[in-house]
Amino acid sequence: PNRTELTRDVVIVGAGAAGLTAANELRRAGLSVAVLEARDRVGGRLWTDVIDGAMLEIGGQWVSPDQDALIDTVAELGLETYSRYREGDSVYVGPDGTTHRFTGEMFPVAPETERVIAEITERLDAMVAEIDPDRPWAHEKAEEWDRISWDAWLRAQTDDDEAVRNLAFATGSAMLTKPTHTFSLLQSLLMAASAGSYSNLVDADFILDKRVVGGLQQVPLLLAERLGDDVHLGRPVRTLEWSGDGVTAIADGMTVRARFAILALAPVLYNRISFVPALPRLQHQMHQHLSMGFVIKVHAVYDTPFWREKGLSGTAFSPYELSHEAYDNTNHGDARGTLVGFVSDQHADDVFRLSAQERKDRILESLSHYYGPEAKEPVVYYESDWGSEEWTRGAYAASFDLGGLHRYGAQLREAVGPVHFACSDMAGAGYQHVDGAIRMGRLAASQIVDEARA
Ligand code: FDA
Repeated sequence: PNRTELTRDVVIVGAGAAGLTAANELRRAGLSVAVLEARDRVGGRLWTDVIDGAMLEIGGQWVSPDQDALIDTVAELGLETYSRYREGDSVYVGPDGTTHRFTGEMFPVAPETERVIAEITERLDAMVAEIDPDRPWAHEKAEEWDRISWDAWLRAQTDDDEAVRNLAFATGSAMLTKPTHTFSLLQSLLMAASAGSYSNLVDADFILDKRVVGGLQQVPLLLAERLGDDVHLGRPVRTLEWSGDGVTAIADGMTVRARFAILALAPVLYNRISFVPALPRLQHQMHQHLSMGFVIKVHAVYDTPFWREKGLSGTAFSPYELSHEAYDNTNHGDARGTLVGFVSDQHADDVFRLSAQERKDRILESLSHYYGPEAKEPVVYYESDWGSEEWTRGAYAASFDLGGLHRYGAQLREAVGPVHFACSDMAGAGYQHVDGAIRMGRLAASQIVDEARA
């Protein structure tokens, strides 16, 4: 009875950075749009909220200098950026649990381990330089590199366990957020190529460079504002009928008929939609070889940024710690200090088996190894738990299982009839990042504009 029926040129499923970018581009090209969003807010994996009086960026937040698509969008929307606090010493915890302070890029390991890390990094940079992030499967060794796990490849380069762990975690715990035996060398090289080089990826000052004043969710919020009534919240799309003539998207309480659709959601969620007729077998198979990584982003707010008084920058990491990396995440102009730590893959599984109190204790204990006992007494504590969000189901993003990238990667962005796909999880440059979401939103929109004119 109360079903709203709309007719538009393009229906966009998902009001994250990808979908909202696409919708704005399509409108600029003179096409009419409707964006259907399952949640009661826009932004998807970008979400700024106030928790116990602290403004926290629950999802994505950092911008790095190579991310032109995001940087342009941030500037065009009139948003301001600020740098992550980074004055003072960084901290590394070694295999025996000893805390070391250091400055510069190379962290304090034995000279032989340092040499091995430098040598393998050089080898990786050379391999990454040969990879086109938009077509990693096109490399002549793609299949070979996709058949070996990231862990197995590293272990074949050296017997130095500390070197392996430190090299592994840049694309493992820190990026794909999966155990390093579950994804391939090729997938790891794509992750690095998407940020320009392996060296860029391990350089916190590069990859975690700037934040947006007021939070990165302002990007989707402002993009949605421009679309006004064309964004519909609380409208999960349940069924998508498609044919050569166009599409019908059936959401809770709303039906949209359109010439084209863009599915701008994480690919692991495509199977929540009933496609009529079913998608081709290739898509059915391909989508089952993609899965979400899993990481807990931990926010701990203190009355003061106490670590700064000790001469610490807040930058801390260790492949031996529960929280493998942590940073000063104090908001712009905030007198209080905020630390952000990350707990990834199997560590995240492990701590979610504990009670909330035990989990908090274990995580704060780990942060105290970097910053001292004061870290155990935050005034606000919060864990971003994207694994339990129905419309995301993990963090940060999706990647192929071992061997899946060379087998299916080339088809991931290919439209099926009038149905197009856009998401950070299929980007080349900016893969798994907001920058990649924007790029994929632009790409899908430009494909549709071309087809609509043809
Ligand atoms: P996204 O998932 O954001 O949007 C998809 C939308 O589709 C969602 O709003 C969802 O509700 C909706 N949807 C799903 N199914 C639907 C259905 N059936 N019907 C209707 N709507 C549906 N990136 C970065 O650049 N810097 C960073 O620092 C970080 N850090 C970070 C931390 C954490 C904790 C997370 C979870 C993620 C990051 N990221 C990041 C990654 C970044 O947030 C992410 O890559 C993009 O925001 C993804 O944008 P998309 O639009 O592609 O998908």
